[in-house]
Amino acid sequence: MAGIYIHIPFCKKICSYCDFYKIILPGDYSSFIDALISEAEMRKSYIAGESVSTIYFGGGTPSVLPLKETGRILDRLSDLFEIENNCEITIELNPDDIDPSYLKGIKKLNFNRVSLGIQSWRDKDLLLLNRRHNAEQAGKALTDTFNAGFENVTIDLIYGIPGMSSTDWIANLEKTFSFDIKHLSAYHLTIEPDTVFGKMKKKGTLTEIDEEESANQFNILIDKAEKAGFIQYEISNFGKEGYFSRHNTSYWKQINYLGLGPSAHSFNNYSRQWNVKNVTKYINSIRNNKPFFEGEELSIKTRFNEYIMTSLRTMWGIDLEFIEKAFEKEGYDYIINTAGKFKDYGLIKQENKNLILTNQGKMISDNIISEFMMPGEK
Ligand SMILES: C[S@@+](CC[C@H](N)C(=O)[O-])C[C@H]1O[C@@H](n2cnc3c(N)ncnc32)[C@H](O)[C@@H]1O
Ligand code: SF4
Repeated sequence: MAGIYIHIPFCKKICSYCDFYKIILPGDYSSFIDALISEAEMRKSYIAGESVSTIYFGGGTPSVLPLKETGRILDRLSDLFEIENNCEITIELNPDDIDPSYLKGIKKLNFNRVSLGIQSWRDKDLLLLNRRHNAEQAGKALTDTFNAGFENVTIDLIYGIPGMSSTDWIANLEKTFSFDIKHLSAYHLTIEPDTVFGKMKKKGTLTEIDEEESANQFNILIDKAEKAGFIQYEISNFGKEGYFSRHNTSYWKQINYLGLGPSAHSFNNYSRQWNVKNVTKYINSIRNNKPFFEGEELSIKTRFNEYIMTSLRTMWGIDLEFIEKAFEKEGYDYIINTAGKFKDYGLIKQENKNLILTNQGKMISDNIISEFMMPGEK
């Protein structure tokens, strides 16, 4: 069982907050698709012998590609890999790219999960974020998605946006839950240095919301999502029963995956690899029959730290039985000792053989996780 991630690094416009690898959509992308397909051919042995249970088209903006090109990638993946019958096949869509005919097309290509980047239902936020769509277009895109017959639909929202109050955030969530979505990814805005927001912050023209307001909005999110029947299975991810993202869950559960395209990561429990973040270098090196990636063999300490980093953010937490099996007594004792003080403060709870963040703990998850890192790898 393995996953495949495809990175489509093109956007029509760059959002003020976004630090993902992307460039403005070039006139000719067929050479990129050729390279992507060649990369799949060259690197398929990375997940050799495993059937593929999830495929995820992310970006950048996969919905800027014509259906023909998206279909070309999927067709080649089916030739190269054993795709499971009930494979979860997700595509990220930007609301202003899609119409009923495009949606019909991706349904025909066998995508069975759609992720819409709505971000906010307030035009004021969308303008500040430099999104291409407005709230009305977002609503239409979501309705069109349901009308096209997709039922496994997730949307992305951002909270903690400068100028967004708790009342605004509540209204955003109420609007969200008025649709029959099955999943929500809601991220607190992070201001990354190499973005327009990063530069505005440095110049003093953008002020982050204060910590108390941040915490308030996070609590509102947890409360509203729960009341709407969603389970918070990861800090930023909420799903109805049976609709957790299988692809993302596989990252958190150490399932192998192959990442194709510039900046994509791959992982097979023994090594981690990451592709060059440059489309031209990516295409040229593939043309020379040599994928351009760096990588590292994972030491036991790195594997331990990666397990903590991913598992503690989920509702399943740290599995002590797994720790004992994979990292022996030393790893087990280290976890128990570190967890002690967090349990005393009510930041971590133990349920059977699992250590899980409490709601209070989730608010400072990054600090708690860094305390669990084995020394030398912080
Ligand atoms: C790869 S990105 C975008 C996918 C798609 N191109 C779109 O714009 O909707 C995936 C999601 O990460 C979130 N995101 C990206 N940068 C962020 C940031 N700096 N702070 C918070 N959320 C962010 C956004 O919600 C975004 O939809
Ligand atoms: S958020 Fe999406 S559309 Fe905006 S720049 Fe990033 S990848 Fe492109």
